[in-house]
Amino acid sequence: MKEILKKYSNKDITVIWKPSACIHSTNCWKASLKVFNPKRKPWIDMSGGTTEEVIKIINDCPSGALSFERNNEMTEQKAQPAQSPESKLTVQVNKGGPYLVKGKFVFIGTDGNEEIKEGSIALCRCGASNNKPFCDGAHKKIGFDQD
Ligand code: SF4
Ligand code: FES
Repeated sequence: MKEILKKYSNKDITVIWKPSACIHSTNCWKASLKVFNPKRKPWIDMSGGTTEEVIKIINDCPSGALSFERNNEMTEQKAQPAQSPESKLTVQVNKGGPYLVKGKFVFIGTDGNEEIKEGSIALCRCGASNNKPFCDGAHKKIGFDQD
């Protein structure tokens, strides 16, 4: 099944949002309702902030649902989470939510295909995601509250 991607541009960058990867952490819209407003359509308004502000918020997206590409480059820039100077791979167990994996790693799917990933992904821990192995925010609907 083809993954749905939504794109929003200003003169410098194009923001790419993968709805299926969003874990509804609320980080983005709490950082700027002018840019990210889930009650508005389209929900991302690139005129609501500077390019630097938008990039900073994207880099704080814990799931990797938000990424961006520079309009003058061909390759997508993955969100770069805050990392230690050694750029260690980190796996954080999120209370009542997913495993947050940040860094650079090889992801191997059930089909055996290997993919080099850099940035963040959220892996379902509650068992309710319709997009396994990734979290799709369903942990909130089922009231998952495990440590
Ligand atoms: S996961 Fe990312 S895109 Fe989804 S609400 Fe959180 S910060 Fe926003
Ligand atoms: S942990 Fe988020 S859907 Fe399961």
